[in-house]
Amino acid sequence: MAATSKPPDVVERLATLAKLGKHEGGIDRALATPAERAARELFVTWAQQAQLEVSQDRVGNLFARRHGAISDAKAILVGSHLDTVPTGGAYDGAYGVVGALNALDLLIRRNIVTQHPVEAVAWIGEEGSRFPLGCLGSSTFCGLTPEAQALALTDENGLTLQQALASPEGGLIPGLHVRQGRAVAAYLELHVEQGPVLEDSGVSLGIVTAIAAQRRYRVTVDGKSGHAGTVPMDRRSDALSAASELFLAIESAARSTGDCVATVGKVVVEPGGTNVIPLRVIFSLDVRSPDESHILCVEDALQKAIDHTKRERGVPAVVERLESRPAAPMAPPLREAIRRAAIELGQPAIDVARGAGHDAMCLARIAPAAMIFVPSIGGLSHVGEERTSAADLRLGVEALAAAIIEVDRTP
Ligand code: GLV
Ligand code: MN
Ligand code: MN
Repeated sequence: MAATSKPPDVVERLATLAKLGKHEGGIDRALATPAERAARELFVTWAQQAQLEVSQDRVGNLFARRHGAISDAKAILVGSHLDTVPTGGAYDGAYGVVGALNALDLLIRRNIVTQHPVEAVAWIGEEGSRFPLGCLGSSTFCGLTPEAQALALTDENGLTLQQALASPEGGLIPGLHVRQGRAVAAYLELHVEQGPVLEDSGVSLGIVTAIAAQRRYRVTVDGKSGHAGTVPMDRRSDALSAASELFLAIESAARSTGDCVATVGKVVVEPGGTNVIPLRVIFSLDVRSPDESHILCVEDALQKAIDHTKRERGVPAVVERLESRPAAPMAPPLREAIRRAAIELGQPAIDVARGAGHDAMCLARIAPAAMIFVPSIGGLSHVGEERTSAADLRLGVEALAAAIIEVDRTP
């Protein structure tokens, strides 16, 4: 690359990406939509500007490789995701992808040769907003979700991922090499914290100790429909009233464990008429805890509440577990490598444990993995108001570049 060109600025690049999918409440870049594809195209453009070798796998994950001194060494992968929740912010995911590209750019400009190849990665579909599986790209790459199963997932309109990836508006990017294999020496992910710990501590760098276990479910509650004006209250089997009991049982079970969080974030009521008794309710459930047995407590409480609504209201419900990811401890040698990188930069860094899900959870199943956090102002994320200071965004990229060098030297 032309060493004389202006170095890319992470703040400017994130502002460019933030225009894609922007609406009043935030950013909506669901997988395989035109906005999300445009973000993947930008990744390719930026990677090619840095003369990185770009490839794509069959589900659309993108890789931008800089060769290392040892040509057949396994690669150090560094990345995150470009998709967002429906009201996402500018940094969740995008920061780690741009950060990876910019950290590689820093190494190139500083003529730092690594032993391992290093690849910046944009994983597809981390949020699970459109297709019902979080960490879709990284899970498929790591072999935790078979590729055929991933491609057969359907969105709310019944379109499969395979169909979505074949469409010109949202699909795969034509003309790229197809990436084969999944040999990984180590994985690093840079991310905004999405919580208040770093800001409260006045420290700009966090080293993640572990990511909490996570399960996602779909619950279908089947009642009996009827006329809102004529069916007496004692003869109803209202699916939404029964579902409301389930919501409260979930909340109270999660609270009682102390460290579990449970969220019903999506509810569909059928047929959805103001004067029609609800026939069916389909809702999502997301439960997380550092201790998987606490997730089982919530599952158990939900099942008991379902038995109760069936008995007392004549309304049965079925729970489908869509996703289950164990807690993911981050690799101690990589955490130490990040700590050394922070010391080199003269920056304090503290340990943080996290409840948000990340692609690092999947990568940790096949290779040593670790994460670097920078503060989120007000701890906000998954909302349009998500912010991180420009100074912290730039510091995180420096820390990531230094961590790559440290990890490259780590046996
Ligand atoms: C992704 O941000 C998740 O934690 O679900
Ligand atoms: Mn994220
Ligand atoms: Mn997210």
